[in-house]
Amino acid sequence: MSTQQFIDDAVLGRSYSNHVDTLKERHDRALEKAGASHAIIFSGAPKPKFLDDNYYSFQPNPHFVSWLPLTATPYCYLVHTPGEKPLLIYYQENDYWHLPSASPAGFWTAYYDIRIVNFIEDVAELLPQDKDKCILIGEFSDNEHAFGIDRINPNTAINILHYARARKTPYELDCMRAASRRGVAGHRAAEEAFRAGSSELDIHLAYCHAVEQTEKELPYGNIIALNENGAVLHYQHQSPVVRENVRSFLIDAGATVYGYASDITRAYSYDSSEYQDIINRMDSMQQDIVSEVKAGVDYAALHISTHEKLATLLIDLDLASGSVDALILNGVTSAFFPHGLGHLLGVQVHDVGGFMADESGTVIDRPPGHSFLRLTRTLEEDQVLTIEPGLYVIDMLLDNLQGSPGHAMLNQKRIDWLRPFGGIRIEDNVRVLQDGVENLTRDAFAS
Ligand code: GLY
Ligand code: MN
Ligand code: MN
Repeated sequence: MSTQQFIDDAVLGRSYSNHVDTLKERHDRALEKAGASHAIIFSGAPKPKFLDDNYYSFQPNPHFVSWLPLTATPYCYLVHTPGEKPLLIYYQENDYWHLPSASPAGFWTAYYDIRIVNFIEDVAELLPQDKDKCILIGEFSDNEHAFGIDRINPNTAINILHYARARKTPYELDCMRAASRRGVAGHRAAEEAFRAGSSELDIHLAYCHAVEQTEKELPYGNIIALNENGAVLHYQHQSPVVRENVRSFLIDAGATVYGYASDITRAYSYDSSEYQDIINRMDSMQQDIVSEVKAGVDYAALHISTHEKLATLLIDLDLASGSVDALILNGVTSAFFPHGLGHLLGVQVHDVGGFMADESGTVIDRPPGHSFLRLTRTLEEDQVLTIEPGLYVIDMLLDNLQGSPGHAMLNQKRIDWLRPFGGIRIEDNVRVLQDGVENLTRDAFAS
């Protein structure tokens, strides 16, 4: 197996030209709004560890990654000036401690005027000289890399870029389809390792091996949770312990292609048909929600209606009793499902712009009582987002219901039975269409 299986540069090369044109238009508008002439996008700098001469693994500026399929090239500068070919100041360090960045090659190079520099000081003379006409986009922890430009990340420009980023270009969709196929290869390998009785650590390693990515290349830390650990929403460990009683497995793991992410969750029963039945019910519920996604839908309303569906399911499964309205009103559904239905996805796993009503940055508030929802926008064609309902036994939240009417609605015996299995989340990545979705995740599982 090789990376060629996941990344087809011939396909990406065909859609890239249009992508660059779209980014130019967006940045032209951002510059106009900011009253500036040049947008300079910094790829980023590795962060040093406290009291150490080592660095955290490099995390590129997502603005830079959305222009260029370069995720491991610190200290580069992209200069966009309306009407001109973008200038890429490409840093190739004179360094024998590390491998310098490879010489620029690939489908993207023809679209840039590329200048290679070996020393940071050499960047200054290549940047536009009129600093007052420049805006910088990126993270700057010191002045060394800002070269005297003081308009950094102005909101006027950033809001335009963040609002627009929710809708993906054909190139971005190609990257995300590829990232979905890559992630699914990992999910298959992980399920196989789980069925073989492996530890969380070994399942994690099987995943990384199958997607051909190291942890630092993954879009987020893999959530590899056996048994009751599945109830910890962002379970962060990968235990090396081989369990004697394996009951269940929740895996939330993605992959990247040129910086674009997939974010996929599945849940498995080891040998309990009763638990498998609950997983199946959650899977059907998730697909029902996905079938309601289309352009024009209010995502926050979709999140609220998920609570209605979940209340019905809790009653059917005998985990709680009462009316649908009472279970929602008294916080019972929120105790079992304490996170948002999903979020925008792209060069960041929780992509920016989820609360923006327009490109000026007007905020659409979350519905009261739903403080973890990350997306409140009205859906538009070509947005890519996740649909990830969940159902968990989280004692901290169930205990919080004590002393309230919600507590009496819980069926403790049935909850006791479910607790050792942890929890279930089913997460797909979908592209919004005028009248439905393209389900990147299910398409990848089907292929
Ligand atoms: N993997 C984090 C999330 O699903 O949002
Ligand atoms: Mn997610
Ligand atoms: Mn996830």
